[in-house]
Amino acid sequence: MYLMILGAPGSGKGTQGKLLAEHLGIPQVSSGELLRSAVSQRTPLGLEAKAYMDRGDLVPDRVIVGLIREILDSQADGRGILMDGFPRTVPQAEAVDRFLAERGEQVDLVLLLDVEEGELVKRLLARASKEGRSDDNPESIRQRLRVYHQQTAPLIEYYERQGVVKRVAGTGVVDQIQARVRDAVRGEALA
Ligand code: AP5
Repeated sequence: MYLMILGAPGSGKGTQGKLLAEHLGIPQVSSGELLRSAVSQRTPLGLEAKAYMDRGDLVPDRVIVGLIREILDSQADGRGILMDGFPRTVPQAEAVDRFLAERGEQVDLVLLLDVEEGELVKRLLARASKEGRSDDNPESIRQRLRVYHQQTAPLIEYYERQGVVKRVAGTGVVDQIQARVRDAVRGEALA
């Protein structure tokens, strides 16, 4: 099963993805976490990605498509994967489809976390005061939201055309949202 969690910055992709992946017994892979780890280890990927991430821009597709290939190749044991934070552009989604099709697989379900913008900003600023992530500042948050609407939201239509999108209300208590997420997955007979 190939699942994807889609949503704006702060919508809870990481939080909900982790709980769902544990529940389903499949690996969760976050492109943002992989990139942050590359930045902290100062690898060539991290050195190239850092400035884009700090500004709140997407790392270019020419870099990310290679990373996506590595992720999918490393999880080729047939269990599937929960994709958190990728694909993020239509070219990335086309690459995922292509790589999965090579082994007779496809994206089974895209869970779209719906959270209104005021709540997103509140969550990210709250995290800034606790964790100090370099892109959780007002200017980068504004840019991340702009980039989401311009470059990532078109994926909703892309996957709606494949008939795999389920919308989940992403506000409330984490456990309540997780229950909605699991209901959505159960509706697909995956959980
Ligand atoms: P990424 O790490 O994916 O960041 P993001 O999309 O900005 O999302 P966040 O991690 O901020 O939020 P989330 O939706 O995961 O929510 P979370 O659960 O953490 O990407 C970072 C950067 O890397 C990008 O800007 C880009 O530069 C680059 N990048 C990554 N992937 C890329 C790709 N494929 N292509 C190109 N570039 C890429 O929750 C957020 C906060 O809210 C947490 O503090 C959490 O505790 C809290 N929270 C969660 N749920 C609730 C709740 N129900 N109530 C209250 N608080 C909550």
